[in-house]
Amino acid sequence: MFYSRIAGTGSYLPEKILTNQALESKVQTNDEWIYSRTGIKQRHVAAEGQLTSDLAFEAASRALEAAHCTAADVDLIIVATTTPDMVFPSCACILQHKLGATRAAAFDLQAVCSGFIYALSTADQFIRSGNFRKILVVGAEILTRLIDWSDRSTCVLFGDGAGAVLLEQSTLPGILSSHLHADGSYAPILSVPGNLRNGLYEGGAYLQMEGNAVFKFAVKVLGEVSEEALSANHLDKSALDWLIPHQANIRIIQATAKKLSLPMDKVICTVDLHANTSAASIPLALDCAVRDGRVRKGQLVLLEGVGGGFTWGGVLVRM
Ligand code: UT7
Repeated sequence: MFYSRIAGTGSYLPEKILTNQALESKVQTNDEWIYSRTGIKQRHVAAEGQLTSDLAFEAASRALEAAHCTAADVDLIIVATTTPDMVFPSCACILQHKLGATRAAAFDLQAVCSGFIYALSTADQFIRSGNFRKILVVGAEILTRLIDWSDRSTCVLFGDGAGAVLLEQSTLPGILSSHLHADGSYAPILSVPGNLRNGLYEGGAYLQMEGNAVFKFAVKVLGEVSEEALSANHLDKSALDWLIPHQANIRIIQATAKKLSLPMDKVICTVDLHANTSAASIPLALDCAVRDGRVRKGQLVLLEGVGGGFTWGGVLVRM
């Protein structure tokens, strides 16, 4: 019987920081509104020439180092992203070349803000089946390039970054279970509707969102998937050491923690410093908490995400 475990984590944030105060000169907004409605203080923004694969490269290199692995050891690379460098080849193939991971198969996975949860679950299946022993799972985004900087209802919410884990075969679990869901009927409440056609980008190049509808949906499904993950493992809420949710809005995170009767000091929050980095937010938060010593070996951690699609899911992990 094979299991998978997280052997190392890594993350990367672009150098440039955009504070709420700096946004006040771009759109009619203010720090008080942004912080009180979302918990966000600042976000990182990729430099002009930086690509998603560059962010992914830094995060992946750090995860490999933490796992005492080299790129040559990697069997598969999965990059969860909605903002790949180009239409094709995939960001994962570009990353494979940058890392020199010549033995690795590589593909992208697109589930927007749930992307990392979907990718981690996918990687877990490949390891459990015995197909692969070491898989790099990366969430990397430059979402700020899909933002209309004149739309105050969306431009204050997002940031750029990347997070990664090296998942490896183990005799002990690791990942206890994963739970994935989708409902495409909710597509219109969060989308970038355009596409390339005949050499032109048609149909709307910017992210559009019905904030209130997304908020309500997120609170509902994150609560449900937490219960589902715990009950599938016959575990009580009290067994959880940490909740690491997708970092979109502190009020969504607080509502989810309340449903689980978890005090906020058992919830990893990075939304204040990173804003919503989509598929990167969960591995970024995980890496921060591993590196600052909060998340430790042997602890029980629930990772959960929700995003466009709509997609949502949870992964229960013994670190
Ligand atoms: O990964 C998943 C992706 N997205 C999310 O998870 C986002 C989920 N939704 C949310 O986080 C919240 O719905 C928002 C933070 C987007 C909005 O918060 P809200 O409490 O739902 O505010 P609202 O949309 O109801 O807007 C309240 C007011 C409006 O003004 P009026 O109509 O009351 O005069 C907005 O025009 O706030 C106004 N407003 C702003 N004011 C200052 C909207 N954006 C801003 C802004 N600065 N940036």
